[in-house]
Amino acid sequence: MKTLRDIMALAKVVPFAVEQWMDEHETHARYNIAETCVASISLDDLKELSEDKTSELWSTSTKLTYGTIRGSEKLRSNLANLYSVKKPLQADKVLITPGAIAANMTVLYGLVGKGDHVICHYPTYQQLYEVPKSLGAEVDLWRASEKRKWQLDIQELKALIRPNTKMIIVNNPQNPTGTIVSKPTLDSLIEIAEEHNLIIMADEVYRPLFHSISPMSPDFPPSILSLPYTKVIATGSLSKAYSLAGIRVGWIVSRSSELIEACAQARDYTTISVSKIDDQIAAYALSQDVIHGLLSRNIQLARRNLGILETFVESFRWACEWVKPVAGTTAFIKFSKMGQDIDDVAFCEKLMEETGVMLCPGRRCFGEEFKGYVRFGFCCETYVLDEGFEKFRGFMKKGYQTLPLAEET
Ligand SMILES: Cc1ncc(COP(=O)(O)O)c(C=O)c1O
Repeated sequence: MKTLRDIMALAKVVPFAVEQWMDEHETHARYNIAETCVASISLDDLKELSEDKTSELWSTSTKLTYGTIRGSEKLRSNLANLYSVKKPLQADKVLITPGAIAANMTVLYGLVGKGDHVICHYPTYQQLYEVPKSLGAEVDLWRASEKRKWQLDIQELKALIRPNTKMIIVNNPQNPTGTIVSKPTLDSLIEIAEEHNLIIMADEVYRPLFHSISPMSPDFPPSILSLPYTKVIATGSLSKAYSLAGIRVGWIVSRSSELIEACAQARDYTTISVSKIDDQIAAYALSQDVIHGLLSRNIQLARRNLGILETFVESFRWACEWVKPVAGTTAFIKFSKMGQDIDDVAFCEKLMEETGVMLCPGRRCFGEEFKGYVRFGFCCETYVLDEGFEKFRGFMKKGYQTLPLAEET
């Protein structure tokens, strides 16, 4: 039998830690507070959210051809409308993919290779820095630090740029911290990219779930596509803010025909088309009759649940600290004992074993430097959070003191 070591020796890519953690634990978690989607909905729920109850979701008489290769006109126009706030975007600047994970993969596969240098926002979804490495690019991490409330420092970015830098990758809103790259930072980022002729790729999969920042705030971040620079690409999907991870629909958008064509060329090797059924359901979800009800449900759920999480954090201030998230579905919370970081992996494992509450350990899933951090996915059904936290409180009173410290392991 092959051991994990044998498999690792064969594989060209390092393990995708957060996906492995989720896969290992989520099917037997009683209270999944690690999930990053806003509580998923059914097709019945989706219909219920529509202002037009007569419109059809899917017609069973439709022939199941590949469909339109790059995605249906209807879906791509609905998406183009979402990116047309500042300046109209045409549907031919949108490519449909099986989720944002495939959107990211396609962009990187199509545009990055040996000899290129890539700068990636960190911490973030591991795919965004590991895939460029696996394609032969050199990668530098642009660190958001908790000391700066997870904001990025433009001077640090400037110092990272090299003659062969090709792309800067940001994740906005950011997984796992639930913070944003602010509008002023985005403006500076654009200026620097323009000066050095760089591509900016923004993984915007958590847009537009801005639960705790007003659109009137000077920090409120527009989509990267609303800024005055053409060499930008945004990726997104229906999984997180739209609660529809089970239809695997994501997208790549850009104002640049050259960038879209380069991605389309890469996509031909991996995708052909996305399921026609998924495409049609996605178009329905993003139609004017449905999108407002769906997003309003999700923003309300996120706000309500964040209130519950905040009460929890406040009552365990002796053990944890956080930068309260403003967007997306996650919070990155640091746990310690007498000023020392706890072993977050042992914490998550023991909590799961004793209470059925599932969280995501920072060090395992986001990098060695995140000792003591735990990612909460707080946009589950509210009753899951209520019941899970009841068990969790019991654990904090009894089991927490027995946890090892990060240094001991
Ligand atoms: C930042 C980020 N990008 C992309 C994805 C992939 O999402 P999906 O493929 O379901 O759209 C995730 C999932 O957790 C994510 O957190």
